[in-house]
Amino acid sequence: MVVSADLTAKHYKGDEGLEKFVIKGGRRLTGEVEISGAKNAAVAILPAVILSDEPCVLENVPDISDVSIIIRILYEMGADIKTIDKTTLRIDATGIKDAVVPYEMARHLRASYYFIGALLGKFHKARVALPGGCDLGARPMDQHIKAFQALGAECGIDHGMVDATADMLLGSQIYLDMVTVGATINAMLAAVRAKGLTIIENAAKEPHIVDLANFLNSMGADIMGAGTDVIKIKGVEYLGGTTYSIIPDQIEAGTFMIAAAATRGDVLIKNVIPKHLESITAKLEKIGVNVEEFDDSIRISVDGPLVKTSVKTMPHPGFPTDMQPQITTLLCLAEGTSIVTEGIWDNRFRYVNELRRMGADISVDGRVAVINGVGQLQGAPVKATDLRAGAALMIAGLAASGITEIEDIYHIERGYEDLDVKLRGLGADVVKKTTPGGTEVRKAIS
Ligand code: EPU
Repeated sequence: MVVSADLTAKHYKGDEGLEKFVIKGGRRLTGEVEISGAKNAAVAILPAVILSDEPCVLENVPDISDVSIIIRILYEMGADIKTIDKTTLRIDATGIKDAVVPYEMARHLRASYYFIGALLGKFHKARVALPGGCDLGARPMDQHIKAFQALGAECGIDHGMVDATADMLLGSQIYLDMVTVGATINAMLAAVRAKGLTIIENAAKEPHIVDLANFLNSMGADIMGAGTDVIKIKGVEYLGGTTYSIIPDQIEAGTFMIAAAATRGDVLIKNVIPKHLESITAKLEKIGVNVEEFDDSIRISVDGPLVKTSVKTMPHPGFPTDMQPQITTLLCLAEGTSIVTEGIWDNRFRYVNELRRMGADISVDGRVAVINGVGQLQGAPVKATDLRAGAALMIAGLAASGITEIEDIYHIERGYEDLDVKLRGLGADVVKKTTPGGTEVRKAIS
């Protein structure tokens, strides 16, 4: 991980050229792969360092572009950041004085909204541009605002910036109208130093929520119940330094599980928490995939036919929406007709058009996809429409006959560390190609 003036070099690499993955499909994936730290935990824990009154050391930080941008935001705000090794950072955020995150920075990712909770919690004020991130349909922030207001903050949106200020933050009862990861995390960040007791009801239960609570508690916070739907937070006045290791990425692990299954491979996936993968494991077993669990690894193999199933995405511990495109792709290769229902996002089937180019037989009506198994996909030129869609197209390309070229891979690099390198380690024929002079080409075609 590069921490310097060219901190975001990874993210902006796209300006040097149009990058794509070129996959020659049809190879079985075999061998071992190591899972990186969890993106959705890292993007919450990094802004949370602002809440600390002392430097913190974070281990198992994934080297992905979403994380690079957050580090860049911290650095620009005045944090002192040192790279200890590729995945370990020492961050001293005590130099941050200004509670503003400008548009240019925030627009690149969804998780920039965690700066609102962290800055509000520390300075009682925050001014953060409305976030970007994957286009999955409407992504409102009403529950985040409701939580901040419950704690005593005034919130408004002006010129594309969220403004939150409070004379004092007071613990409060916050009932979330729907299960939301983002609002649960933001409520925790804002409440951790508030005066008195905060109770978050109908809280999200994702592993990264527990990880954030563990991180904050290791700094001296008093949070109980993370991982259940009621989280209790007793505000503290001081948060100390800590050394903390981020959990492994559940979705990266699930993506490799499906890639192994789709190529009828035999892969040992290391550095995972099998409990976090239970809903994925259960569906894969139904489809006919062998899943063997060990303490911190999981082995995937296939020796019989893949068969249809139905999947509905739900908040944790249900089947994760962030695995929906990948499992839909696997079901294209299974016998029979499968049904996949998206339970979280309005518009998470845009990648289906790309899969159709590869021979998939999928019809979509609103949030429901009906997939007729076709047994074999064919390589084709396709475009990643968002992060998990990109991962699904990688899986499709690995399993397909012939060559698949995936454009707009910056979406994939937002959330997967060295995906091509890890896949090559498993025997895949995948290379990253850059067309020189991409900026000029883009200007010419825009
Ligand atoms: N919602 C509201 N109002 C709010 C907040 C959410 O109506 O104030 C709705 C959303 O529109 C959605 C549902 O509640 O229908 C759940 O949204 P949630 O807040 O849980 O999503 P998020 O925090 O914006 C995170 C992940 C997503 C993942 C979802 C669901 C991060 C940075 N992002 O988004 O991850 O899909 O939770 O698990 O943690 C990804 O990694 O590819 C990704 C998109």
